[in-house]
Amino acid sequence: MTDTEFILIKKRLRALTGIDLESYKSPQMRRRLDGYLERVRAPSWAEFLRTLDRDPQAVRQLRDFLTINVTNFFRDRPKWEELRTRIVPLTRRTGHALRAWSAACSIGAEPFSLAVLFQEDPSIWRYSILGTDIDRDALEKARAGGPYTVDEVKEMDQVWLARYFRRDGAGYWVQPPLRQRVEFAEKDLLRSTAKEEFDLVVCRNVLIYFTEDAKDQVLRGLVQALRIGGVLFIGATESIPSGRIGGLERVSLSFYKRVA
Ligand SMILES: C[S@@+](CC[C@H](N)C(=O)[O-])C[C@H]1O[C@@H](n2cnc3c(N)ncnc32)[C@H](O)[C@@H]1O
Repeated sequence: MTDTEFILIKKRLRALTGIDLESYKSPQMRRRLDGYLERVRAPSWAEFLRTLDRDPQAVRQLRDFLTINVTNFFRDRPKWEELRTRIVPLTRRTGHALRAWSAACSIGAEPFSLAVLFQEDPSIWRYSILGTDIDRDALEKARAGGPYTVDEVKEMDQVWLARYFRRDGAGYWVQPPLRQRVEFAEKDLLRSTAKEEFDLVVCRNVLIYFTEDAKDQVLRGLVQALRIGGVLFIGATESIPSGRIGGLERVSLSFYKRVA
């Protein structure tokens, strides 16, 4: 696509899908968009934009494609072990319910992984988990608690899999008692400014898609959502250079504590 086409496409996609592509890394996004055009066998962007104007289904499919939903339960398992053994004891406060937010949770594997950890921890007796994402279809699957593929549950402990899931021809389903522990809502991280009091905010494998400015803006929003002493859990390739975002102190590669 030409530069002019890219500018035009970004503008139209923002109007049609609500996604602000200006905040995502351009070379990556351009490659994805070009790949998509080939995939749908559209002769040109001009033609495909006309299709988008008259076909809401095509808009929805493109939106799903752009949001990159790949995820799995206990993704990058050693990090979850660190969360369980080192970070949860750090964030837990006696007499308080533990409040966690999984931001950009895709189809729900991440917030349900948190729910399993919390259920299995005898020292946690009250907790709440919020899962949010920009993608409505992903949230629909999260709210239904499945069905999840073999690949999506491959990092799960087998005992926990048997305890919290049931399997049928469609795949794995989160059992209702666990499903009810997580609340889901639609939220665009680039637009939200909510001030909350979470003990733990998990935001993994989405910051990598944003431009540096957008990433900083999102990180500042996530810090605001933490209480002082609360911890931010990010992806293994998303580390935050020290001093870049005010109010954050590094605990380890993927964990940062909010300080005053
Ligand atoms: C690769 S998935 C990561 C899922 C999960 N956090 C994990 O690490 O397995 C990225 C998710 O970010 C979501 N996303 C992309 N841009 C977003 C935005 N501006 N606001 C909220 N979610 C966004 C996508 O819809 C997608 O579900």
